[in-house]
Amino acid sequence: MRVSEAAYELAVRLAKTGSPSPGPEARTIVAHVLGVEVSRLITVDGVTPEQQRLINELGERRAAGVPVQHLTGTAYFRHEILSVGPGVFIPRPETEVMVGWALDRLAERDSRVVVELCAGSGAISAAIGSEIGGVRLHAVELDPAAYRYLASNLEDYDADLRLGDMADAFGDLDGTVDLVIANPPYVPETMRPFLPSDVVDHDPSIALFSGPDGLDALRVLVGVAHRLLVPGGLVASEHDESHPDAVVELFTAAGFSDVTPHADLTGRARFVTAVKPLG
Ligand SMILES: C[S@@+](CC[C@H](N)C(=O)[O-])C[C@H]1O[C@@H](n2cnc3c(N)ncnc32)[C@H](O)[C@@H]1O
Repeated sequence: MRVSEAAYELAVRLAKTGSPSPGPEARTIVAHVLGVEVSRLITVDGVTPEQQRLINELGERRAAGVPVQHLTGTAYFRHEILSVGPGVFIPRPETEVMVGWALDRLAERDSRVVVELCAGSGAISAAIGSEIGGVRLHAVELDPAAYRYLASNLEDYDADLRLGDMADAFGDLDGTVDLVIANPPYVPETMRPFLPSDVVDHDPSIALFSGPDGLDALRVLVGVAHRLLVPGGLVASEHDESHPDAVVELFTAAGFSDVTPHADLTGRARFVTAVKPLG
């Protein structure tokens, strides 16, 4: 069968089972089976019967709700290709905007000591480490399963990685950090029944939920950021789209200045940034 036909047939099947983006997902799966990048699919002559069998098998798993990133074992984030799978949160495009903000701010500073809290796959650290020079990277992750992906994705970076709770992480760096950045768990427990099954069934609960109102991790994070940052240092944290006012309040109450809400590319309130005052 021709490659375009195989991709088209799979896209039709995925569309019928409710995939939000059947064409791109079908091309990603076919390219994965053929061992080429999506942009090179056009150069492949045809699909062998064995490859077709694999495409059908992955198509069935996708139709059953398995995220396409778990089928291919990879996720794209800015310019990074990360290893992901069961046990680690799949990085989301909305986080890319916060990283862009952080890179712009780091570019203005001579000292670039960065701590990522709640690091998961390490998408944020990897992007910062590869998109700007002179950075000293530190990252912490609580869940051992996620930590394995973090260690693997950052093995080519000279990064200080720690397995543990952000609450008491990096005491040795207190008062010395230029940027603290995080995408913590922030979904209210009460929202669990309303999340799509491919999120609830495949992203780890510890990565998603954070107490009844979704703010438990952020309550810890504001204190940790304040402890770690040098005066004049910056913090950025993602949050649930329903939380901008509550998160602004948390940062303000923790003693930060310039507390600023930001939207993601879809215009939804998505992250808050703040500065530890100088004096
Ligand atoms: C929403 S995921 C974000 C992962 C990654 N930063 C990203 O953007 O793709 C949140 C991560 O925080 C971790 N986590 C939850 N509570 C934590 C804690 N108290 N200390 C450190 N990590 C924690 C979870 O295991 C999960 O990997």
